[in-house]
Amino acid sequence: MANQPLADVIVLFGGTGDLAQRMLFPSLYFLDADGFLADGFRIVATARAEMNRAAFVEQVHKAVTVRAAPAKLDDAVWSRFAERLDYVVADATTAAGAKLLKKAIGDAKTPMYFLAISPSLYPGVCKALDGAGMAGANARIVLEKPIGRDLESSRATNAAVAEAFPEESVFRIDHYLGKETVQNLIALRFANTLFEPLWNNLTIDHVQITVAETEGVGERWPYYDEYGALRDMVQNHMLQLLCFVAMEPPSDMEPDSVRNEKVKVLRSLRPVTRADVQAVTVRGQYTAGVVEGKTAQGYPEERGQASDTETFVALRADIDNWRWAGVPFFLRTGKRLPERRTQIAIQFKPVPHSIFDTAAKQDLVANRLVIDLQPDEDIELLLMNKAPGLSENGMRLQSLPLSLSLAKAYSGPNARRRIAYERLILDVIRGNSTLFVRRDEVERAWEWIDGVAEAWRESSMAPKPYGAGSWGPAGAFALIERSGRAWYD
Ligand code: BG6
Repeated sequence: MANQPLADVIVLFGGTGDLAQRMLFPSLYFLDADGFLADGFRIVATARAEMNRAAFVEQVHKAVTVRAAPAKLDDAVWSRFAERLDYVVADATTAAGAKLLKKAIGDAKTPMYFLAISPSLYPGVCKALDGAGMAGANARIVLEKPIGRDLESSRATNAAVAEAFPEESVFRIDHYLGKETVQNLIALRFANTLFEPLWNNLTIDHVQITVAETEGVGERWPYYDEYGALRDMVQNHMLQLLCFVAMEPPSDMEPDSVRNEKVKVLRSLRPVTRADVQAVTVRGQYTAGVVEGKTAQGYPEERGQASDTETFVALRADIDNWRWAGVPFFLRTGKRLPERRTQIAIQFKPVPHSIFDTAAKQDLVANRLVIDLQPDEDIELLLMNKAPGLSENGMRLQSLPLSLSLAKAYSGPNARRRIAYERLILDVIRGNSTLFVRRDEVERAWEWIDGVAEAWRESSMAPKPYGAGSWGPAGAFALIERSGRAWYD
């Protein structure tokens, strides 16, 4: 990656919105606190809500304070940060709105535009920015998911954006890629000699990826009901995790080196067809139940009517290439599950022959590498040990974890769990798109997801109910058990 000029202003569209207030302003504040924002770097927020600058700054102050708690804001950092802030009331899809923004960014040379707004507005905003001459060579545009609802609509959005911004200026965010442990997966695989020789179908039996949430859909149903778990979570976050586990070693960390490898994985995903959709996928929808000791409504009650949107998906993905032939990837994600857990488990094969006598033979468990992303950031390698002590029937074995707790390893007064957006915003400021999703990558992912959705439609596969607080419908267990394996709960 050649040296890119640093961005000198961020224009935040949707500046009063939830994402901006909960994640983006706090991330910018922390970047400032850590010295990553240059003198003169400005933050121009825009939205349609009428508000003066002072009221806006007050709103941001509250949002950042809430996020930083229990730590207090540093007064000196806050006043420096507040100085950078500006607020412009504008409809950014119009020429008049773009003109106001142009005035606000003044003579900035490398603006970055962060679209924290409904994707339906992306084309209009890009057109207005282009019309006002603001989409110049050094400008960067940051897009949140979802980019489309299927291949066709994602192509249309990408094409509209491409009319104003060349691909190298487009930064498509998948906030999972900003998570420390996801990047750590790259370090684990490619900064150690230990794993890579074993990272294939000779040694690995299967992979499980779980993204479980205790939260329900709640007030978000108008968006969610149109998307469901497949489009909301699998198309982006889960396929990205799968790509990082499965990709070939890139030759370096240049954006295209990494993204080329991810696209190859997506191209190798075996399409799900009507013939096998019942065997390799499960759709679920939560009904009323109890989660973490509290009663929870069912999705239809939250939604106000019956719906055939899935809030849970489990599926078996097969990657048809040399490295992964015969190694299934089991993915599951859902709302209102018993615990919040994002985890990747790499299950190794059992030893080819046991030298131990009967008792110890029964103790033998195959090695497993467990990467916890949330709520804790942990990496554990389960290894067989001799159980301490004596026993009448020779030695007994026991599986024990070799554990790398990031929280313990990096504890101390300055240890703070970073917001994923801090890394991502910093990368856009520096013009590094390695952790962003390229157009062909988004479109490949949609192509595969469209196949699943179509197979569901063709076979009229409605979501099966599961009680809130359970691990999904019974079919999710059958899905993995059919192959002689089980979920790690
Ligand atoms: C978002 C989805 O992209 O990711 C949400 O739209 C989901 O439905 C969220 O809750 C999960 O993110 P995280 O970082 O809390 O795991």
